[in-house]
Amino acid sequence: MGLSEPIRRLDDTNVLKEKILPLCRLQKGEVWTDPVKGHRVGVCDATDPVQIAALMKGERAILAVHDPPYNFSVGGKTTQQLFKQDIQGYTGFSERWILNSLASMLEDSHLYLWLGADQREGFQPLPEMMLLLRKFTALTSRSYITLRNQRGYGTQKNWMSVRQELLYYVKGRPKFQVVYTDIPKVLRGYYKEVNGKWTENLSRSRSSTIRPGNVWLDIQQVFYRMEENVPGAYAQKPLSAIDRILSTSSLENDLVIDFFSHSGTTLISAERLGRKCIVCDMDPVFAELTIRRLEHFRSTGKTGWQCGHPFPEIAEPKGDLPLFPSL
Ligand SMILES: C[S@@+](CC[C@H](N)C(=O)[O-])C[C@H]1O[C@@H](n2cnc3c(N)ncnc32)[C@H](O)[C@@H]1O
Repeated sequence: MGLSEPIRRLDDTNVLKEKILPLCRLQKGEVWTDPVKGHRVGVCDATDPVQIAALMKGERAILAVHDPPYNFSVGGKTTQQLFKQDIQGYTGFSERWILNSLASMLEDSHLYLWLGADQREGFQPLPEMMLLLRKFTALTSRSYITLRNQRGYGTQKNWMSVRQELLYYVKGRPKFQVVYTDIPKVLRGYYKEVNGKWTENLSRSRSSTIRPGNVWLDIQQVFYRMEENVPGAYAQKPLSAIDRILSTSSLENDLVIDFFSHSGTTLISAERLGRKCIVCDMDPVFAELTIRRLEHFRSTGKTGWQCGHPFPEIAEPKGDLPLFPSL
């Protein structure tokens, strides 16, 4: 029997979610406070200022990393969260949660916003979101980053139609730390004069590896064989991408927020890098998954379950697949 995930995507079937809901320790509007490091996880609607104020308790973050639904139907028939609506509805939704994020951020802070661009539909909602963000005069645009998608241009068929874009804005003048990838510098023989000395490219640099730049091609999208994989999640971001954001735009003990937690990637990154983190998801199942992922990380040192089960209470005895064949 090969490796595979023990549960389906949690948006595929309501039957599975109904089994998990009684296991969720939070209900709508409730907030869990981590007894170890003080992180918080809430079941909150990112567009609701009252729920977000209750989550934040007057604290303000130096860094916001948000990964909202992309206005792209990638879910199953029963998916409510990964909705697709008309673009005015989507920008209205976005405007409301961005306002709540800005109110939760320090005067000098960073805002990262993950976004899709539907290649079948004029790349919506990327241009509309760029125009919307211009309306927030407190924000200055800093970078437009793309995460490499292996099923894209150059493949004969089966192109993935959604792109992974990352828009980076700043509020005020926050500090930024330089980071490097693991990709070695290869450009040799590029000479230039520095302080009267003739120097070669490699001798000039502070690192033997290159900086990430604005196309992140060294980061693998999450798939089921990776340790960080969270079975049941369907929109998990790679931990190394979030680590890079936290390392450049926050310092130890700083507060980081994420209003669309899902599998809890931002929380795990914050835990590993010594930041404090406040997150929420409007779905209690994903808030529970987020808390369980933190607890699992603390007890095992593993960042996900790979092909294990995040809800062992409903796991069927190990045997030949398929598990939950009739759902
Ligand atoms: C694209 S996923 C985030 C993925 C996450 N970055 C990760 O690595 O796992 C979007 C999440 O937003 C949640 N969501 C959708 N609408 C929301 C809202 N109005 N407020 C809070 N969460 C919402 C969904 O339940 C879903 O879990």
